[in-house]
Amino acid sequence: MMFKRQRRLRRNPFLRDLVRETDVSLDDFIYPLFVKEGLEQPMEIPSMPGIYQFPIKDLVEEVGRCMSLGLKAFILFGIPQNKDERGSQAYAPTGIVQETLQAIKKSHPEALLIADTCLCEFTDHGHCGLLKEDDVDNDSSLELLTQVAVSQAQAGADVIAPSNAMDGFVTTIRRGLDAAGFDQVPIMAYSVKFASSFYGPFREAAEGAPQFGDRKSYQMDSANRREALREALADEDEQADFLMVKPALAYLDIIREIRGTSLLPLVAYNVSGEYAMIKAAGEKGWLNPILTRDESLLAMKRAGADLIITYFAKEIALERWKDRDGKAVK
Ligand code: PBG
Repeated sequence: MMFKRQRRLRRNPFLRDLVRETDVSLDDFIYPLFVKEGLEQPMEIPSMPGIYQFPIKDLVEEVGRCMSLGLKAFILFGIPQNKDERGSQAYAPTGIVQETLQAIKKSHPEALLIADTCLCEFTDHGHCGLLKEDDVDNDSSLELLTQVAVSQAQAGADVIAPSNAMDGFVTTIRRGLDAAGFDQVPIMAYSVKFASSFYGPFREAAEGAPQFGDRKSYQMDSANRREALREALADEDEQADFLMVKPALAYLDIIREIRGTSLLPLVAYNVSGEYAMIKAAGEKGWLNPILTRDESLLAMKRAGADLIITYFAKEIALERWKDRDGKAVK
């Protein structure tokens, strides 16, 4: 029998370009930004080299820089000065996220601003909702989270991204947004959010680690694929506009599965631990951080993600900009 000559199409770079099936573009990226109340100057996060907590003023400038590099969409996380049991700074009209949204919109009205809707950075116990005894109470948390979403939309958020993992958060937040006149504000639901150890560096960046216990009573068990589909389908039913899988790299099968099941735009969250692993191994010289980064992001797209939330967005935009300018890259 004749064997197949697969190498014919790999013979030179132009041929490989012609037959390439997947590609990663700056338009696919959402860049996470951290703003911290009361901060004097940007502070680099030790476990996430190149990623900073910003004071409002510097963050507004950072958005401007990123936009001139070709990034368009940003997801915003806020760290308040004062935390309490109910996370009240998450929905205060003068909360750090609300003020930052307004400030960015004033200087860069065209920036697409996505607000992460959660309580964990704002509660003194570090959980994503209200406590009842030692558990997070679902329905009373929903009321607060709806207030958070509405206050974020009022402050200028273009998209609401609830990451709290309560049941019914899409329905409740949708209802709240509509009632407040924001029926045009889409919901990017963190539909399939696993209770993952890959969030470690983020919890340092957002200062939102749980002060006791873990998030396993509301975030998903990594072992479950069918349950992930149930979560995604429920959010679609509840009128989510985007679905999300988080983390990304260890859950590419889930991305693929949802891609085959739903017609909604699908977001992969390339989380902090995935970023830190590549950065750390790169610093040690154990692997090439640029090539492994690009390979990972490509894999997320190939698995079926339309969009990627990634801490790598800015460095990639910078490389491509230098590339266009004819200067040395990398
Ligand atoms: C808040 C939230 C988390 C992340 C995004 N939103 C942390 C968590 O659920 O513990 C993690 C993002 C990352 O690791 O990059 N609920």
